[in-house]
Amino acid sequence: MGELGVNKIMGALLATALLMMGLASLPSLVFAGSGGHHGDDHAEEQTLSQKMCAQFHYCVEIAEAASAGGAAEAVFDLGAALLTADVTRGERTFAGQCSTCHTITPGGANGTGPNLHNTVGAEKAHIAGFNYSGAMTNAEGAWSYENLDAWLKSPAGYMKGTSMSFAGIKKDADRVNVIAYLAANTEGAPPFPAPIAVAAPAEGEVVPVEGEAVPADAATPPAEGEAAPVEAPAEEVAPT
Ligand code: HEC
Repeated sequence: MGELGVNKIMGALLATALLMMGLASLPSLVFAGSGGHHGDDHAEEQTLSQKMCAQFHYCVEIAEAASAGGAAEAVFDLGAALLTADVTRGERTFAGQCSTCHTITPGGANGTGPNLHNTVGAEKAHIAGFNYSGAMTNAEGAWSYENLDAWLKSPAGYMKGTSMSFAGIKKDADRVNVIAYLAANTEGAPPFPAPIAVAAPAEGEVVPVEGEAVPADAATPPAEGEAAPVEAPAEEVAPT
């Protein structure tokens, strides 16, 4: 092989090496160009989330907020829903889904189902002379908001053997509106159940010990992150 041949081979190798180097640096060239902005954004995002996770309690707070939100959704707050219920919509749903079997006017006739005037708070099987099922006749207790909610969600699920052939109202808002309509057609209806959020004491709030005067400034819940004013020794404060 002559010197020229060696040079040719060396040249070919060099060209290949250059080409490979070029290919290897191609992505960075592309990103440095039009895609560069994108790459930078992404890097910034990562850095931000990494920063947040580096500050450990930040990550924990986010996780807790998310799970608390989930729990709040899972627990259906009937009391809160009733406070914002729409009686007019309830009347419409009643006309569409219940009135084929039920009247609700005072002294209204029984149909396939009993008249439903004055139902809330009444004993189950509240119409004397209606031919109730054995299950309903033997059912204990009165129609509270809670058990009306369960009943109207799934009549057969709530009371096995009932003769009310109705699938139930699955949508919470529709069901609650109907319950509010039943209450509107009950003279002296019992008060709605307290919403869960109001019933539970706020976090950080000082629960006054029985028989002890509540310090004036403890009556208003302290701002978040502020220490609760504790005037009594720690062991006299009721556990939360
Ligand atoms: C297909 C007919 C039918 C439909 C539709 C129907 N019901 Fe009934 N309902 C009945 C029957 C029958 C009973 C009695 C059940 C038993 O004895 O087991 C009853 C019982 C009840 C009771 C208990 C009454 C009492 O005296 O204890 C309530 C409350 C009630 N229905 C509400 C409703 C509401 C609200 C709707 C509409 C969302 C509805 N029903 C739709 C037939 C019906």
